[in-house]
Amino acid sequence: MLAIIGGSGFTTLAGLEVIKRHSAETPLGAASASVIQGTLGDSQVLFLARHGHPHKLPPHRINYRANLWALRQTGASRIVAVNAVGAIDPLLAAGTLVVPDQLIDYTVGRESSYFDGRYKPLKHIDFSAPYSETLRRQLLAAGAQAGETLAAGGVYGCTQGPRLETAAEIARLARDGCRLVGMTGMPEAVLARELAIPYACLAIVTNSAAGVPAAGVPAAGVADGEISMAEIDAALVTGVERVKRVIAALLG
Ligand code: HPA
Repeated sequence: MLAIIGGSGFTTLAGLEVIKRHSAETPLGAASASVIQGTLGDSQVLFLARHGHPHKLPPHRINYRANLWALRQTGASRIVAVNAVGAIDPLLAAGTLVVPDQLIDYTVGRESSYFDGRYKPLKHIDFSAPYSETLRRQLLAAGAQAGETLAAGGVYGCTQGPRLETAAEIARLARDGCRLVGMTGMPEAVLARELAIPYACLAIVTNSAAGVPAAGVPAAGVADGEISMAEIDAALVTGVERVKRVIAALLG
């Protein structure tokens, strides 16, 4: 069953006919919300609101281990994670969807493994390619089918938040090769891998990252201003509509 993890601005899945709301309780504590099992078109899907419903949990307080566990115990066989991101690549405009192919984890202090020697015995898993290539390709094909342009590839840098980054931090991420910056991509991706569930990210660009000139505006070399929640929220509205069309095509 396809599971969708909805991020900021995506706390409910319109059109989902609810079959069952599964308890959020897991052996690792409570997930952010109940996992909703339902039908979308002719397919059964699972939906989990990453930040809870209504939106409340900040990125560093999410119990990612419980969230992934809850999806596994309700039958997730592949996961599309929807994440709001800032664009480090100046060519990515707000509202663009991106399917990254790599990530760098800059988070600190998050419970990021089941195999930590306490919950399960220590194990070092391979994570060379953090996203399922099969699912990435399926997403890109679904985008093409839905008539939505998806940007393919790029490195997702995951920061701790909840504050946004300084311009110098973003310049460093750019030197590291990051194309996108977000706060929720890790440890979600690695926990899915530890549970052997194919996982891919469908990122919504909500703003140009700190110090990055907005796409379409001639590069002046200097950021033109602060990042506002209003611009992020506005981009999420269009981005989430696009995501829903891509998911419908993925299921179809
Ligand atoms: N930085 C980090 N996370 C984000 C951003 C950003 O600029 N925009 C949306 N999520």
